[in-house]
Amino acid sequence: MSEVTTELNAGVLTITVSRPDKKNALTNAMYGALADALERAESEADIRVALLRADGEIFSAGNDLGEFAAQSVGKGPAVRHVERFLRNLATASKPVMAAVQGKAVGVGTTMLLHCDYVLLAEDAQLIAPFIDLALVPEASSSLLMPLRIGHVRAFEMFALCEPVSAEDACTWGIANKVVGREQLHAEAQRIADRIAQKPAGALALAKGLMRNTERVLEHMERESKIFSAQLRSEEAKEAFSAFAEKRKPDFSRIGKG
Ligand code: COA
Repeated sequence: MSEVTTELNAGVLTITVSRPDKKNALTNAMYGALADALERAESEADIRVALLRADGEIFSAGNDLGEFAAQSVGKGPAVRHVERFLRNLATASKPVMAAVQGKAVGVGTTMLLHCDYVLLAEDAQLIAPFIDLALVPEASSSLLMPLRIGHVRAFEMFALCEPVSAEDACTWGIANKVVGREQLHAEAQRIADRIAQKPAGALALAKGLMRNTERVLEHMERESKIFSAQLRSEEAKEAFSAFAEKRKPDFSRIGKG
């Protein structure tokens, strides 16, 4: 079964990530499918809203760390679909929603900054472990997160890599609403159905006025260059090996840079 599926119902394109055995860690192929789904949402007139959701216990463990490890030694794919996915997300003219249960790690959290309506289950936890992996925040989150929640909260989130609770995420403005785990998908559907009935032209125009896409893309490109260089650093290689070997990383013998 495909690890990313789509279903169109009454103007709502539901995009479901389903790799529960690997905690919905996202592979290059999955980013490709997510990017395709967003392109479909953009091009089909009868799609009024896209809803990102995930099967299983947690929303996403973020980028597949095995793939990061391969990329760190120059064995990455010829085309990195993550960039197309993030670009499509950042430039989507139609509303994008997300429904999040359990942990949302790395890109699982940073993608939410590009969504227009974010619904969290009460057990949701947002985690940005880039620094612990010797990486830097991506998806323009080093720009968008401080803008959204303020510098000191964003710095704490990125530097300490501790989970942000659903309640805090909502209070800080990363999400709209917290609901019981059992209600998450029904409530997301209910809100998506409401958005789908609004005048699509006005919605797209309003969204365009609210987002500074040019600045976001420019920043994403800058981040991406630093991220790619850092991915090949000795400290990142140590972080990926430690994850694969189920041990704590030891950065003590690795110099700066
Ligand atoms: N990439 C690849 N595989 C991953 C993964 C990831 N990001 N996250 C989890 N997995 C795999 C584990 O290796 C494990 O595989 P195995 O059963 O073959 O050993 C399986 O998914 C279950 O993970 P596990 O760690 O046992 O689940 P957990 O419930 O104890 O913890 C997480 C879940 C998400 C907290 C934990 O897996 C984790 O921290 N993952 C890494 C997150 C991360 O750093 N992502 C990168 C962000 S940039």
